[in-house]
Amino acid sequence: MKTLVTLTVNGEERSLAVEGYRSLLDTLREEAGLTGTKKGCDVGDCGACTVIVDGEPVNACLMLAVEAAGRDVRTVEGMQAGPDALHPLQEAFMEHGASQCGFCTPGILLMAQSLLERNPDPSDEEIRFGLSGNICRCTGYTKIFDAIRTAARRMAAPPA
Ligand code: FES
Ligand code: FES
Repeated sequence: MKTLVTLTVNGEERSLAVEGYRSLLDTLREEAGLTGTKKGCDVGDCGACTVIVDGEPVNACLMLAVEAAGRDVRTVEGMQAGPDALHPLQEAFMEHGASQCGFCTPGILLMAQSLLERNPDPSDEEIRFGLSGNICRCTGYTKIFDAIRTAARRMAAPPA
């Protein structure tokens, strides 16, 4: 039996009919058509499914869609400032080559965005700790950390 769940996704109110056992991850991908959020392990180990719920990073594979009712959900599709304006983190990831296969990238971008919202000038250790729940099999992490440092510097700089 399906339940109608109403939530805000990337600033837009969405009402989705879901079974009580469906995860927020599957609901975003299969009911809302937002396939930017990736399914890696599906058990909370890899961080590929990271989204922001009411301002906090969450593993969407561990949250039921019905638990997201009435809440504010942000996915990688909502990161861009506009159609032609990438988020500074997205720009820095491109410049540093911080994405290879790209499977981990949406989750890491959102985790990094959440980190910089809470701590605009993180130390190297704080970046490593903040990203410790997000696994990347390709990059070795160095370029990811470099990109986050670059984005943090640019976001902190006063507009020219
Ligand atoms: Fe959710 Fe791996 S898919 S943590
Ligand atoms: Fe391939 Fe991170 S870029 S898993």
